[in-house]
Amino acid sequence: MKVLVTGGGGFLGGVIVRMLRERGDEVCSFSRGEHPGLALLGVQQIRGGVEDRDAVNKASTGCDLVFHVAAKAGIWGSYQDFYQANVVGTENVIAACKSNGIGRLIYTSSPSVVFDGNDVEGGNESLPYPAKYEAHYPATKALAEQLVLAANSPELAVTALRPHLIWGPGDNHLVPRIVARGRAGKLRRIGTRPNLVDTVYVDNAARAHLQAADNLSPGSSVAGKCYFISNNEPLPLWNMINRILAAADVPPVTRSIPPQLAYTVSCICEGLWSLLRLPGEPPMTRFVAHELASAHWFDISAARRDFGYDPEISIEEGLLRLQQSLQHSKA
Ligand SMILES: NC(=O)c1ccc[n+]([C@@H]2O[C@H](COP(=O)([O-])OP(=O)(O)OC[C@H]3O[C@@H](n4cnc5c(N)ncnc54)[C@H](OP(=O)(O)O)[C@@H]3O)[C@@H](O)[C@H]2O)c1
Repeated sequence: MKVLVTGGGGFLGGVIVRMLRERGDEVCSFSRGEHPGLALLGVQQIRGGVEDRDAVNKASTGCDLVFHVAAKAGIWGSYQDFYQANVVGTENVIAACKSNGIGRLIYTSSPSVVFDGNDVEGGNESLPYPAKYEAHYPATKALAEQLVLAANSPELAVTALRPHLIWGPGDNHLVPRIVARGRAGKLRRIGTRPNLVDTVYVDNAARAHLQAADNLSPGSSVAGKCYFISNNEPLPLWNMINRILAAADVPPVTRSIPPQLAYTVSCICEGLWSLLRLPGEPPMTRFVAHELASAHWFDISAARRDFGYDPEISIEEGLLRLQQSLQHSKA
């Protein structure tokens, strides 16, 4: 089988690629940069942006299956940049699947597509998309997910997975952010209630992608649907953050600020950064303030039922592996 993974050099894409190679699939990765780790795995790298329709079309020629993992992630940036990478990029991947007769497409979505700032406790796939979003990332991921699901047909079977807060060795978003801010003493709990949040260890999220693909065919129960993917171990958010900090030898967060203050500060920061076109990203945004202050965990029974997803690596085991990798990278 020949598989195309967009963003195969990234955090999640890299583990999907490794697992595909371990079972003997031929794998191509498509992304803008060169990722030396992929060459070691015997993965062909094709360089280009998903915004470039011809390049995506060419890269997917001759493939049997596509994992569309590449995306522009982040909490700040222009809407146009998010739209081009996440929406136009996904349109191009769908068009390439259609024109190259590729029968299966797995899209990596995000639970943030249903997040409206309020608590979600045990939410399932019946949750609606909110009327408006507080950040461009979830807004554009939601548009892309809807494009993918609408493309489901007898010729092209599609599915969308929503892995929740992926972490583990090699994480280039969540863990380094938490550790850097924790080390600098800049982290504050938002509120004092034990808001439950679920997360997913990266190997579990990657395994879910392969399992979904293996069960995907036109008319199958997986086709045309989206699925939440997590470790199914909701924990109080600040407990989880402190455990990640402990894995990096950083003291726990003890100080807190009231949620209303955090929200007001985030509005001021966003205003200043937009108005004065300040470089980098604001230290706090409305989206992040709400994510940190609220409960968000999801029911994964649909993924269990339709493709046998089961989080093999527990949070305990994942944290041990994370600790080892952080120690290794320090040495
Ligand atoms: N991390 C999480 O907690 C989380 C949670 C839910 C969903 N997700 C979703 O999971 C997917 C993977 O996320 P990740 O955490 O693994 O992110 P990541 O490490 O940043 O990987 C994304 C990869 O996509 C490639 N890419 C980005 N923009 C591109 C473009 N315009 N054209 C071609 N390639 C592009 C990048 O490679 P180049 O720089 O070489 O182009 C990058 O390696 C994304 O779809 C994200 O929305 C992530």
